[in-house]
Amino acid sequence: MSADTTRPESGLSRRKLLGAAGLGAIAAGAAGAGAGYAAAGGSDSAPVIDKDELPTPFEGAHQAGIVTPAQDRLYFAALDLTTESREELVALLQEWTAAARQMTQGNDVGEFGAVAGSPFAPPEDTGEALGLPPSGLTITVGFGRSMFVDAKGKARFGLDGQLPDRLKDLPLFIGDRLDPAVSNGDLAIQACANDPQVAVHAVRNLVRIAFGRASVRYSQMGFGRTSSTSTAQATPRNLFGFKDGTANIKVEERMDVEKFVWVHDDDGPEWLVGGSYLVTRKIDMRIEIWDREPLEGQEAIIGRTKGSGGPLSGGDEFDELDFKAEGDGGDPAIGEVAHVRLAHPDFNKGAKLLRRGYNFVDGSNGLGQLSAGLFFIAYQRDPESQFVRIQKSLAGSKNDVLNEYIVHVSSGLFACPPGVGAKGYWGEGLFA
Ligand code: HEM
Repeated sequence: MSADTTRPESGLSRRKLLGAAGLGAIAAGAAGAGAGYAAAGGSDSAPVIDKDELPTPFEGAHQAGIVTPAQDRLYFAALDLTTESREELVALLQEWTAAARQMTQGNDVGEFGAVAGSPFAPPEDTGEALGLPPSGLTITVGFGRSMFVDAKGKARFGLDGQLPDRLKDLPLFIGDRLDPAVSNGDLAIQACANDPQVAVHAVRNLVRIAFGRASVRYSQMGFGRTSSTSTAQATPRNLFGFKDGTANIKVEERMDVEKFVWVHDDDGPEWLVGGSYLVTRKIDMRIEIWDREPLEGQEAIIGRTKGSGGPLSGGDEFDELDFKAEGDGGDPAIGEVAHVRLAHPDFNKGAKLLRRGYNFVDGSNGLGQLSAGLFFIAYQRDPESQFVRIQKSLAGSKNDVLNEYIVHVSSGLFACPPGVGAKGYWGEGLFA
């Protein structure tokens, strides 16, 4: 059945619904600064488009959603491939890339989108983002070890020769209570946006496209960012009430981004150069117990003040941590087991991470306590010498006191391919 041509043209329908004035404002706003953008032409009655609604470029040397200034909302999903056909996997990645190109620019999925297709066929796009702006949406994909080899080490999709040495299973750390049902996965989708509906729409449509080839293993909503990845962003707070992301790698710190985030030529494999490794950890936080801890104790556990986020050794938020400074009574001002000491590069052979996690609340448990915590996300060039080293230090024998208030319940490691150009698709280097 051919499409009903009396219906509106698809693809651009979400942006069309914004209206011509809105698009003018977006174009004008792209070059502007500040919180809001007046429409082109300067009319007093013109709508104001917030910069958080603008599209994020999809194409580039690296995937968007890694050093992109962290958006406010997350919807993450891990999928397992239900097909064993290499051709079907390639087709899936091609279709995902095409759909992501459209959605990240604020367009519907497919040729006819949500409402312009045949009334006798299910719409190509699910429709819940109609009328919504791009909202800074980024979609970042990653490949789990289990996409390359099965649990017995047998090749899948003919990809065993392409398995990166660094894509090993993460070790079990002291205190881990991992639930396999919400860990790992063949494929990961990280959708970040400033509107949760836009992030959910993105994952939902990719999952729908995957029908018959891959199915969701687990997914996680995150409602508030717990890191800043740009010096232009204010530091947000985690659910323990502390500023989180102060000492994170920021996109403006180009040398650190090159050194710690992107896979280099000599790291290999070739298909992953310009990509990055994604670690996910769902960390339950015992909110009610934490809330009974005196302020002084909370600050000692983190090593920073709760108000400004400044180091306990003195100074304001972005002042250096001084691990030699003494507090009252001659003890170190930043305690031997304070979180920021154990996680700091000085005590981890210089290792740094690009953290990009989100707060989550999954309702309450049967005792009326919040099922809440941090969906920790970190990007890096080498998981072993970065996340694993730092997490061993946090979970290890010296014992980060924070561990009395948190428990890691899920874990994932994914190799995220580089970005794509005008014609490419995610992971194409794998199948060359
Ligand atoms: C629920 C669990 C966690 C909470 C509540 C938490 C909280 C914090 C806070 C408040 C800071 C200080 C602000 C900042 O510099 O960002 C911080 C710093 C940091 N955290 Fe965590 N964190 C958690 C888990 C982790 C994990 C699992 C890792 C990595 C294995 C990690 C690595 C770091 C690093 C590298 C820093 C910066 C240290 C520095 O260089 O000063 N954190 N965290």
